[in-house]
Amino acid sequence: MVDLRSDTVTRPTRAMREAMASAEVGDDVFGDDPTVQALEARVAQMFGHEAALFAPSGSMANQIALQLVVTPGHELLAGADAHVVTYELGAAATIGGISTRTWPAVGADLDVDQIAAMIRPAGYPSVPTHAIAVEQTHNLGYGGVVPLATIKGLRSVADEAGVALHCDGARIWHAHVADGVPLAAYGALFDTLSVCLSKGLGAPVGSLIVGSAARIAQARLIRKRMGGGMRQVGILAAAGLHALDHHIERLADDHARARRLAEALAPYGVVDPGRIRTNLVPLDLSKSALDAPALVAAAAERGVRLVAMFPTVARLVTHLDVDDEALDRAIEVLSGLLRDA
Ligand SMILES: Cc1ncc(COP(=O)(O)O)c(C=O)c1O
Repeated sequence: MVDLRSDTVTRPTRAMREAMASAEVGDDVFGDDPTVQALEARVAQMFGHEAALFAPSGSMANQIALQLVVTPGHELLAGADAHVVTYELGAAATIGGISTRTWPAVGADLDVDQIAAMIRPAGYPSVPTHAIAVEQTHNLGYGGVVPLATIKGLRSVADEAGVALHCDGARIWHAHVADGVPLAAYGALFDTLSVCLSKGLGAPVGSLIVGSAARIAQARLIRKRMGGGMRQVGILAAAGLHALDHHIERLADDHARARRLAEALAPYGVVDPGRIRTNLVPLDLSKSALDAPALVAAAAERGVRLVAMFPTVARLVTHLDVDDEALDRAIEVLSGLLRDA
């Protein structure tokens, strides 16, 4: 089976498992797990922030960060296609008491002026804006990278309005590798970031919230309240440290394979390879006789797994567990299906 459903499907490598098995651990709720502390210090330093906090998932990391920058009854601005408002099951509202308002779904192609115009100042009767969320890279925007200049523009807007800027950086590593922007340059522009170790980087579990020491101290309390305080979690942090050491630069291979996949399928009119920036490859099946569920089912029968994002859009994701041989197999199967459709 070639599994191209997501970069979350990777299994820990042997070397990662060995690092996990030999990790020094302690009770992290008491604050004495040395491997977690090493991971948190390392990630904070990579992004040029004072502190970081390990969390069990990207969703929890995002939702903790949002509670840091938006107080209940106030507003978060995000894209209509942002993970924080489409795939986190209403957590901002139900857990954080946060009101969300969205700009149209444009993936990574943000319009700074449009976002600036949406900000509402404090004062009755409107809901005042407290923060803006940016997703880097953009999941429903098919792995698009928000340009550094756009983020700088948003930073100026946020400073002028006195609102915070949060980055859902689940795949910020891919943006760093695709555009060559240092992680610290991204870090300098955001008040809070969530970054994920288990998408693309190949760790089995784990995300971190990154920010100031004061915010991360508060984040530790929110994480406990949400049930995310973990005990001998250095076993998982060791996987994260291993991923940071060994699996960032190789993302360039995933990007190259995604481009190769798109180039191979382009003749069937389902994808523009010029739009593929990172590891996510959407297939637009609106002009094909096969819709997305039909393609997914037919490919699965032939040993290739992908997902239907929408009725006429399927998605393929390259990652650590897909080598050139597996990619060739996927291209052969998908080309055959699209050709015969
Ligand atoms: C952009 C983005 N943010 C956050 C998440 C949430 O991560 P998790 O599945 O670990 O909760 C995902 C998951 O795919 C994602 O793609």
